[in-house]
Amino acid sequence: MGLNVAVVGLGGIGNTHARIYHGHDDCNIVAVCDALQDKADKAAKDYECQAFYSIADMVQSGLRIDVASMCTAGEENGGDHYQATLELLSAGIPVLGEKPISNNITHAREMVALAKEKNIRYGINLNHRFTPAAIRAKEWVEAGRLGELNIINMTMWINNPNESSPHFHMRALHPHSIDVMRYFCGDVLKVQAFFKKGKGRQIWSNVQVNMQFENGVVGHLTGSYDAGGSYGLETCEVVGAEGRFVIREACVGLEFYPRFSQEVETYQNLGGMLGFPETFGSRITRWIEQNLEAAAPEDIDARAEDALKGQLIIEAAIESWENDSVVTINY
Ligand SMILES: NC(=O)c1ccc[n+]([C@@H]2O[C@H](COP(=O)([O-])OP(=O)(O)OC[C@H]3O[C@@H](n4cnc5c(N)ncnc54)[C@H](O)[C@@H]3O)[C@@H](O)[C@H]2O)c1
Repeated sequence: MGLNVAVVGLGGIGNTHARIYHGHDDCNIVAVCDALQDKADKAAKDYECQAFYSIADMVQSGLRIDVASMCTAGEENGGDHYQATLELLSAGIPVLGEKPISNNITHAREMVALAKEKNIRYGINLNHRFTPAAIRAKEWVEAGRLGELNIINMTMWINNPNESSPHFHMRALHPHSIDVMRYFCGDVLKVQAFFKKGKGRQIWSNVQVNMQFENGVVGHLTGSYDAGGSYGLETCEVVGAEGRFVIREACVGLEFYPRFSQEVETYQNLGGMLGFPETFGSRITRWIEQNLEAAAPEDIDARAEDALKGQLIIEAAIESWENDSVVTINY
């Protein structure tokens, strides 16, 4: 039996989710919902389903909805996620939410707690780790190929001239970079950060963050909304006692550098994945698979708890800068 799908929030990203479900053999989009009627109506036409203008009307419609993608935005690209997610979870619908889970930690904790209380699958679209390159590198880490891990360096930057709230850059972009760091190295214990406003900017558009992970690994994140350009969205390097790997552009390049030999192993476009935009397909396909398999909520890849832990690191970086201190994360 396939999945009946609803998509909430039909901006650019909601439509990206919808196109993936629409093209999937095991999914049937039954509802789209946007507070703006023209967006909902257009999507209903595109995906041949019913349009709703409020989540309340959608969940009371009697339609069977097996999963929903929740793609609203709001302040710092996450301010509208709270209410919409609570409405979907309260109706018992498994949710794949967009990042950041929320720009407000109290809200994020409530969202995670409600899904847990109701034992519902709740994933977040932390799509950067859903690449064959990251999966191969993770297998190397788990098989001990790098030896004991010592260091992780992550760079993520894009050109984003948007002048919004002071910490828009940290809260809206770095759920992604931090999720990739957590994927390889686990939970973070302590955080210290410096921020800089780019030329002519009102917001903290550049950051350098130091992290100490619970397993002792020391990590560094370089982030910017004033960089990037034609190539160079992200680079992740993990260094162990026996060797290191570098992932370029999420999925484009993967290299293994043994510590005691000159023989470099290089992969290009593993799994045929050509660029970052394809990570929406790989992440959402995995979400579909796990729902079809009726996976236990705690087994969902990149689940809401992971996203919450990422946001705690983000808030610790901001606190560190504002208080000129090293911040221990309080999970
Ligand atoms: N995972 C990624 O790589 C990635 C990339 C870019 C953006 N995003 C995220 O995707 C999300 C959406 O971004 P976007 O650019 O499509 O935003 P957008 O503002 O273009 O679209 C959001 C839509 O949600 C609708 N909406 C808001 N509240 C609603 C509610 N309660 N009920 C129904 N509809 C509601 C709005 O009317 C709007 O049409 C953001 O959270 C952003 O951070 C993720």
